[in-house]
Amino acid sequence: MSDAGKLPVARTYRPREQYLSLQRDSLLDPESFWAGIAGQLVWRRKWDKVLQWDPPFAQWFVGGLLNASENAVDRHVKSWRENKAAYLWEGENGDRRTITYGELYQEVNRLASVLQKLGLRKGDTVAIYLPLVPEFPIAMLACARIGLPFTVVFSGFSAKALAERIQDCGAKVVVTADGGYRRGKVLDLKTVVDDAVKDSPSVKHVVVFRRTGHVVPMIEGRDYWWHDLMAKASSYVAPVPLESTHLLYILYTSGTTGKPKGVAHSTAGYLVFAYATQEWVFDAKDDDIYWCTADIGWVTGHTYVVFAPLMHGLTSVMYEGALDYPEPDRWWDIVERYRVSILYTAPTAIRSLMRYGDKLPGQHDLDSLRLLGSVGEPINPAAWQWYFDVIGQGRCPIVDTWWQTETGGIMISPSPRLGLVPLKAGSATFPLPGIEADVVDEKGNPLPPSEKGFLVIKRPWPGMFMTLYNDSERYREVYWTRFPGFYYPGDYALRDAEGYFWLLGRADEVIKVAGHRLGTREVEDALVSHPSVAEAAVAGKPDPVKGETIVAFVTLRKVANPSNHLSEELKQHVRRMIGPIATPESIYFARLLPKTRSGKIMRRVIKAVAAGGPIGDLSTLEDGASVDEIREAIEALRVAEKSTKSS
Ligand code: WTA
Repeated sequence: MSDAGKLPVARTYRPREQYLSLQRDSLLDPESFWAGIAGQLVWRRKWDKVLQWDPPFAQWFVGGLLNASENAVDRHVKSWRENKAAYLWEGENGDRRTITYGELYQEVNRLASVLQKLGLRKGDTVAIYLPLVPEFPIAMLACARIGLPFTVVFSGFSAKALAERIQDCGAKVVVTADGGYRRGKVLDLKTVVDDAVKDSPSVKHVVVFRRTGHVVPMIEGRDYWWHDLMAKASSYVAPVPLESTHLLYILYTSGTTGKPKGVAHSTAGYLVFAYATQEWVFDAKDDDIYWCTADIGWVTGHTYVVFAPLMHGLTSVMYEGALDYPEPDRWWDIVERYRVSILYTAPTAIRSLMRYGDKLPGQHDLDSLRLLGSVGEPINPAAWQWYFDVIGQGRCPIVDTWWQTETGGIMISPSPRLGLVPLKAGSATFPLPGIEADVVDEKGNPLPPSEKGFLVIKRPWPGMFMTLYNDSERYREVYWTRFPGFYYPGDYALRDAEGYFWLLGRADEVIKVAGHRLGTREVEDALVSHPSVAEAAVAGKPDPVKGETIVAFVTLRKVANPSNHLSEELKQHVRRMIGPIATPESIYFARLLPKTRSGKIMRRVIKAVAAGGPIGDLSTLEDGASVDEIREAIEALRVAEKSTKSS
């Protein structure tokens, strides 16, 4: 990234001074700063203390009482927004629905009543496994209304992955659908849930929303149709006043071990941060049509499809299906028809749409667009420029937003609302107000400009997760021990001479495949659970569209022989164990894997071989591994790679 400063600089929209001074001031007295924003939410009881910081555990707005669903919907039904659209929904098959704030309110109340009648009480957990339909936010808000922490599982995850998450949080109810549409096909979600629930004794009931109408098995006494229960539900359930630190949701995400981490978010801190960042970054007004394309299965959808836009009373577009189905201009057609003004998406989507050329967007009227956003992985300058020139027609700023499941909301991003700094293609620019970020070396010392190091956050912020569910030790260990006193997100970064932040990808064993976060260990665990596999080593390989794809090197047990058939079988096996997003692109059969003397697989070497890059100096390899053996193993990997390619 040494040529960081040479990248194209977009035009300036507003002076940066206002923004940078606000940034500085916010850090002088962050507690008053955050309290000022918190005051814009609806409270049942005001907090006594803004921040209780017992490192590494933060509690925000201690002593306050509030309710997330009241903040998202009730506040609007008492205003003119009652008849304003909350969601303009479009199914992949062309179905369309408009859900006003008034209707959303009614549905949330009714579903909360349904959940109560199923016996759920404050503190009980619910798992949600749905396609992208308006019932998704309805389910989340109904849970929040009566204090039920929920965990959303992305509908592309397998039964095993779903079961693991249900079991970890002890969900008593699963909310799902018969299916959803993807590329014209029906995804059979209910069957996946049935498989997952078989091994999950905590689950007492399954509520099934009818989306596709195909025949699905229903188990008497356990499974109920959403519409049957809703027909008998009460029309009002009072929102329960909840403590600021009440667990709003758990969202499982990948880390460096095989077991997913349950990121636990609070009610007040999370909502305040979501509320603030939505305004700073997207600067949305009542007449905007806002479209965040993320699936609600991921954190981006939680914060910027559900809680934040609803709190602000915005109108969001929600689209169920694939971006290029039935034709590759589906998205541009949606932008044109709904007059979308703010589009927030992922680099991987931009790159795949870019491949279809400039003609398709050119056939649509994209003049309604005024702001573009990017999230989930570093955006390469070429994709940035295409997004800026072709989609934004040179007039829409791009907000490149860096954040994580753990941070709850956007941390580093331009802020059109507060004063837009000149943009640089591929830089997320500066931390938002109240966020103190830095780039440090191995020892935690701040680095001079343009040197690559580790991103750290130096003080707590309201959206910060409270802990890892049921695993506070892992929380401390993963995020707070590497650089004592600082939050360690696991990303490489640098600041250029002007102080701009450039996010340079993960520094740990997490990979981003089409923006989806996966742990190499998860995939390895899935591979070695196959009877033919002895050992597996997985790495991300740079990919022009997906950012990274998964490649796996495996050694086989004596009983098995390398073959294309086995390679396919292993791919299918990973799909079954985790889900389609984790399917390796290539599987290479190796004779041996490079290991340290203590038997640990040398990930740096695997990664370098996968990427086709230089291996680096083997003599400095940690743990005194035998250099000869490693050379032999690398040779074996390369041979494996070549022979698989040519076969
Ligand atoms: C990466 C997604 C560069 C980063 C909201 C982070 C980014 C991980 C950006 C979190 C960005 C996210 N530029 N990298 N604008 N946004 N990342 O938890 O590596 O799915 O740590 O949250 O995505 O992924 P997660």
